[in-house]
Amino acid sequence: MLSSTSDIERLFRRSLLKLLTGEREIRPTRAVPSRDELREEFKQIEALGLYVHIPFCERICPYCPYNKELYRSDPAEGYVRAIKREIDIYAGIVGDKPVTSLYIGGGTPTTMLHSGLAEIIGHLRQAFDLQCDIHMESHPNHLSAENLDAIEALGVRHLSIGVESLIDRHLRTLCRPYAASQVKEAVGRALSRGFTCVNVDVMFALPGQTEQEVADTGRALVKLGVDQVAAYPLFLFPYTPMGRASGQRGHVIAQSLKRRRMLRILERIFSEAGYERTSVWAFTKRGVPRYCSVTVPLYLGLGASGGSYLRDVFYLNTFGVAEYIEALDGGRMAIALAVDLTEKMQRAGWLYWRVYETRFRKADYRERFGEDIDAAYGPYLRPARRLGLLRDDGERITLSDSGAFWLHAAEDLLSIQFVSTLWGASRRDLWPERAILS
Ligand SMILES: C[S@@+](CC[C@H](N)C(=O)[O-])C[C@H]1O[C@@H](n2cnc3c(N)ncnc32)[C@H](O)[C@@H]1O
Ligand code: SF4
Repeated sequence: MLSSTSDIERLFRRSLLKLLTGEREIRPTRAVPSRDELREEFKQIEALGLYVHIPFCERICPYCPYNKELYRSDPAEGYVRAIKREIDIYAGIVGDKPVTSLYIGGGTPTTMLHSGLAEIIGHLRQAFDLQCDIHMESHPNHLSAENLDAIEALGVRHLSIGVESLIDRHLRTLCRPYAASQVKEAVGRALSRGFTCVNVDVMFALPGQTEQEVADTGRALVKLGVDQVAAYPLFLFPYTPMGRASGQRGHVIAQSLKRRRMLRILERIFSEAGYERTSVWAFTKRGVPRYCSVTVPLYLGLGASGGSYLRDVFYLNTFGVAEYIEALDGGRMAIALAVDLTEKMQRAGWLYWRVYETRFRKADYRERFGEDIDAAYGPYLRPARRLGLLRDDGERITLSDSGAFWLHAAEDLLSIQFVSTLWGASRRDLWPERAILS
């Protein structure tokens, strides 16, 4: 018998997994791909994206699910050496395929602004055919005028700032080390530079947050003139201090309605101010190229916990910074877990990201999978259209605001659980035998 919301959620999640991928569970294991196998993979790939993970922060936030540790200069030095070795290994595997997106995330990349970031980016430029701008995450406390000079000198054109809230009591709940007035000044300094896009991350559905506060935050961001806002509901991951304290699992259906109401408030404010929706959670000023993590369907992840998604394989590096450095110092790759992707899993993965971006061209699906999306997903697309969740003009499918939210909420049931399981297992055991995602 189903006794609680989480039982219903589990049942729904398993049905969704089976429906989308044909699998009852997905099992990444230690059977990691060899360099020769990866070389074969790249023969089928025309262009790729790069993700570089910087796993250091000056303070650890209690809600944060990402792989990070406190910044210390010794490991940071070893990390630069190791990542350069990893770049060299991949340069030999990828050959001259163009890199069409480069994203530096973390942790906090700006902890290494004066201790290796320039060396890493310089090495990437030498090793790969970079045909793209650099997108990078930053911490508001690192955005002094001198540091902004250094960030611009790296060639970063799209800058994201982890603002999180513009209200002091919420900043305190999140243990963020600045006041609202200071973070507004930092955003103002970044906006006064010539970046193509300045994105601000904020979180909503925070403990005790009112709808009025969400509206005030949205209006204040418009007033500041930010190019893009990524507004995420606070997700409670069970392995974080805030997740443990709340006693909840990663995602609860009941919270979805509150999130929906708050997101609606933001949708209205940003739409009236001339921003358009560019992903489930992001609003970008019309005409500004958006800031985003990965803009191509296939990418390589470098660094500790870097994940790579190639045509028919997904794999993940070890989460341990010391283990990552040791592997590369020893001439080995740092891949810890891998899973082969069946055709149905590849289609589900492709659709996941398109739903996230809220629009796609049907021709892109045909090009990637050699068949019509209506033939594969017609029985789901037609009712979704009738319910007003999406529009289909024959060439392009566009999700409505409520479609973006609800389809993604359904996907989140899978992805938040998977991320929690995969990252949780990878943190407990730095070279895990397997993880079971179900
Ligand atoms: C890597 S951090 C941003 C850069 C920098 N480390 C910082 O915190 O300022 C990425 C973003 O993920 C979001 N985030 C982190 N933990 C989250 C959580 N539990 N729920 C929702 N969003 C979260 C925050 O908006 C955060 O800015
Ligand atoms: S939210 Fe940002 S600063 Fe805080 S621990 Fe996570 S990555 Fe580090």
